[in-house]
Amino acid sequence: MLSSITPETPPGNLAALAEDHYFGANPPPKDLEKHVAQARAFIDYHSAAGRRLVLVTSGGTTVPLEKQTVRFIDNFSAGTRGATSAEYFLEAGYAVLFLHRQFSLLPFSRHYSHATDCFLDFLREGPDGSVVARDEDAAKMLHVLRKYRDARDRNMLLVLPFVSISDYLHELRSIARLMRPLGPRGLLYLAAAVSDFFVPPDRMSEHKIQSTNAVDAVKKVGAAAGARPGAAEEEETFDNFDSSPSIPRSKRLVIDLDPVPKFLKNLVEGWSPQGMIVSFKLETDPTILVHKARYSLDRYQHHLVIGNLLSTRKWEVVFVSPGNPDHWIRVPFRKGSTEDSIPDTVAANDEPLDPKSLPDGEP
Ligand code: PMT
Repeated sequence: MLSSITPETPPGNLAALAEDHYFGANPPPKDLEKHVAQARAFIDYHSAAGRRLVLVTSGGTTVPLEKQTVRFIDNFSAGTRGATSAEYFLEAGYAVLFLHRQFSLLPFSRHYSHATDCFLDFLREGPDGSVVARDEDAAKMLHVLRKYRDARDRNMLLVLPFVSISDYLHELRSIARLMRPLGPRGLLYLAAAVSDFFVPPDRMSEHKIQSTNAVDAVKKVGAAAGARPGAAEEEETFDNFDSSPSIPRSKRLVIDLDPVPKFLKNLVEGWSPQGMIVSFKLETDPTILVHKARYSLDRYQHHLVIGNLLSTRKWEVVFVSPGNPDHWIRVPFRKGSTEDSIPDTVAANDEPLDPKSLPDGEP
């Protein structure tokens, strides 16, 4: 555990200790075993066929504030990049294991969900009382439907959900380990928007955090009337507030977050050492994007970092790979999005990328 760390502890052991500590302290999602069984069967099936397989992670991770979670911190990601990329990887012949935030965009159905139109707007009543696609949408819907059915019928797409940051990390570790036998035929494409901060379980309230201290009064009355001794005190021991509030404590919520360990090192060195690993780097400040992407690559020693800015991510991304100059893919305004170019570029390069082979997306 972390208490066994000394200044002499080698860096490799530090990563292993941090991993043991995090996964020991943060319980796995309740469906982990079921998901692992599904993922194992899927990976074995495609491994036996000698097929390339990609794990696409997609959507945002939540940071629960309570164990019985009423409130959580979330981020902007809708899962557009992951869901779109999954379709491109299927088109390129990959089997796709799609690990996504529950209720975020999914491959194929993304064309008709989270849209400004309700999906019912794509439908009309047929002459015999049946439901059919509107004439203007029918051709595209048939095309998407065929692709979807094909992926399902050929067992090319496995969809597994996560919700919180700890769910995501448990699922990622388990699946990455299962992918080991695939060697370089396994691609890990980490497009999820992963939380950097979280509330560790030992500082997390069991119950809904109260906005008034009325509950204390209720508990005291209960205790006075013969409730289990100590119950009121247990409720009061939770404290995620600082010590000098200028507004009365009962009115404030100060959230004290710890950093989520960066497990990319563990992923690259331990969980899936022979897989091809593509991570994304998201920033909002253009002056630091390339530097941070290069830093991530140097630090974790994987194959490719795709950098993007929150505000321009649909039109430009930068590929940063070992030994190669930075390569920007830019999509002209209203001529598609980066989603259309990234997976093809990645899929075309099983080995570290040669920028000469990348499509020139310059306007
Ligand atoms: O879903 P969309 O709306 O289409 O948006 C797509 C996207 C912008 C979310 C996607 O393109 C993207 O950039 N995903 C990565 C977002 C992210 O987590 O960036 P980061 O800079 O915080 O982290 C960089 C890398 O470190 C990530 O690959 C992440 O897996 C990893 N990480 C992050 C946090 C953490 N605690 N541990 C990690 O290992």
